[in-house]
Amino acid sequence: MAKRGVPVGPFPPGVDHDAYDRMRRRVLWKLPSGLYVLGSRCGERRNLMAINWAMQVSVDPKLLAVAIEGTAVTHELVMSGRCFTLSLVSREQRGEVRRFVKPAVEDLDAGTLSGVGYRDGLSGAPIPALAIAWLDCEVRHVLATGSHTLFVGEVVDAGFADGGEDAEVLRMEDTAMSYGG
Ligand SMILES: Cc1cc2nc3c(=O)[nH]c(=O)nc-3n(C[C@H](O)[C@H](O)[C@H](O)COP(=O)(O)O)c2cc1C
Repeated sequence: MAKRGVPVGPFPPGVDHDAYDRMRRRVLWKLPSGLYVLGSRCGERRNLMAINWAMQVSVDPKLLAVAIEGTAVTHELVMSGRCFTLSLVSREQRGEVRRFVKPAVEDLDAGTLSGVGYRDGLSGAPIPALAIAWLDCEVRHVLATGSHTLFVGEVVDAGFADGGEDAEVLRMEDTAMSYGG
């Protein structure tokens, strides 16, 4: 894995590595994407994580790919639990997503993860109460890509919360946050 702050090649001929690295990052940040909450579970360990690297990759079967950093708690849980949920969040809930940029704290008595209620989906992975829509997946393929692992899951269940189909979905550009690059 690349050291943080050290430009990653390959580099086109004749460029300044640092300047090129900064510019390339800005190009990568321009890629439009949603901002979601990924639920994972192995046994009785559950987590919710903010994620924007997610997309559909097959129509038949219905496959969804998510890229998860190797050092994340979520990586360990998806690798061993073999399932995940991807929840869409409304634009009004943009502040709530910040709860999930570090490992979630589970309160078993309250039934919450980082203060947010959840229920377990068909796969067993948690779906946060703030979801306006959700996709529940079982892992079918795992591809180590570098800093991240691409987990490809088959959608085994999906649904909308009440009014969820009409809500505006949270996207990266609705926030001041960036990821990757
Ligand atoms: C806007 C935003 C987008 C993110 N997107 C991803 C992503 O696509 N993949 C990923 O592995 N981590 C992503 N993260 C980082 C994780 O949310 C964060 O590191 C997380 O707490 C680590 O996962 P863990 O709780 O499972 O340890 C993103 C963070 C932010 C703030």
